[in-house]
Amino acid sequence: MTKESLYLQLGYEPKKSDLICRWYIEPAEGMSLDEAATNTVTESSIGTWTEIKTAKKYTQRLAAKVFRIDEKTGIVDTAYPVEAYDPYDISCILASIAGNIFGMNCVKNLRLMDVRLPKEIVKAHYGPAFGIKGIRKLVKVPDRPLIGTIIKPKMGLNTKDHAQVAYDSWVGGVDIVKDDENLTGQKFNPFYKRVKETLKKRDRAERKTGERKMYMANVTAATTDEIIKRAGYVHEQGGEYIMIDVCIVGWPTLQTLREHNEDIGLVLHAHRAMHAAYTRNEKHGISMLVLSKFLRLCGLDQLHIGSMVGKMIDAGPQSVLRSRDALVCEDVPADDFAVGQKWYGKKSVFPVASGGLHPGHLPYLAKAFGNDVIIQMGGGIHGHPKGTVAGAKAARDMLDAVVGGVPPRKYKSKELQQAIKAWGMTEDLM
Ligand code: 3PG
Ligand code: 3PG
Ligand code: MG
Repeated sequence: MTKESLYLQLGYEPKKSDLICRWYIEPAEGMSLDEAATNTVTESSIGTWTEIKTAKKYTQRLAAKVFRIDEKTGIVDTAYPVEAYDPYDISCILASIAGNIFGMNCVKNLRLMDVRLPKEIVKAHYGPAFGIKGIRKLVKVPDRPLIGTIIKPKMGLNTKDHAQVAYDSWVGGVDIVKDDENLTGQKFNPFYKRVKETLKKRDRAERKTGERKMYMANVTAATTDEIIKRAGYVHEQGGEYIMIDVCIVGWPTLQTLREHNEDIGLVLHAHRAMHAAYTRNEKHGISMLVLSKFLRLCGLDQLHIGSMVGKMIDAGPQSVLRSRDALVCEDVPADDFAVGQKWYGKKSVFPVASGGLHPGHLPYLAKAFGNDVIIQMGGGIHGHPKGTVAGAKAARDMLDAVVGGVPPRKYKSKELQQAIKAWGMTEDLM
């Protein structure tokens, strides 16, 4: 048992103002869990691998502490004094609790499972501008799940065809159409032209259907300045939404966009492409729960959190629903995995399920998520045997049937029956 030290104080009672991190730690060969935990907290707070002559007594007030170790599960709880950080600077906080330590040789695996952000950090941030309530008011859909699609092929369509696929999706019945995560400003479909053309089609689809229809243009670009310029252009063109690849553009860009959004009031949709590089391995990296909390803190309005079924590797339903709770609850519950979180009045984030979904998944997803979810289907709409309009109608008819409590054997819609014939149903997951 390593002796208690500046960094190892089992039984320390964390202060309300501490930032709490919960880790899964697998020590390297020959290393005890105590030592690996102490090294993790040392390197992620004020220390390094050896004693140094430059440390002053007064620096110790910023040292983090290990305060709970579960030898059986490898779960370790640590407390970081909030004074160690600029509360508004997400990069500063992550460079500490999610920086060097994943590469240290004292651990075989290290997973940041959850964080509890103290009030001082939460209050320093905008948080989401709309909340689920605000988005429902904007799209004029008071209660049911929202249906979205992604223009496919992911890349390659020219602007005219892109806008046409969007139009067909809206008139078929989807609420929201988004660009795919790797469509930004390529020559074959330039951003500014795409936005103008697609929003024109959006207006036509609204007139034709009498429903609100939303277009999420992907503003991901080479520089933060260009991202801000693109967001401003969407606003000028009468758009209400933008999407951005949050894990790829980085935190200062997201914080700059959120500040700028105070003036233009767009709904910020977070696509999480690249997240699985560090969320997928449940023994190493950073959980989707942690990423969800920092994105709500920063002020994104919608976030992909996994679909439990479909093509993407998603940690099981429980893990997806934990991320959902972190996005929608004011007081997020703690359990053996999660450390809880109060949001001090910050608005909620609309959870998004996407990736490999088709209309037959809808009954399961609506049951698993409840009403407050955006269900997106790309291939599941544009791959319909009768094309996009039929695919969108199949998805919308399925949703209407689920919301209306119509049993599968009573589904009337021909387009829906064609989709079920093509891809099946997931009632076995019910
Ligand atoms: C770094 O920032 O590269 C490390 O903190 C180096 O510090 P060390 O030489 O004490 O490991
Ligand atoms: C997304 O960006 O959400 C995915 O590309 C969804 O596409 P899919 O429904 O065809 O998997
Ligand atoms: Mg995609």
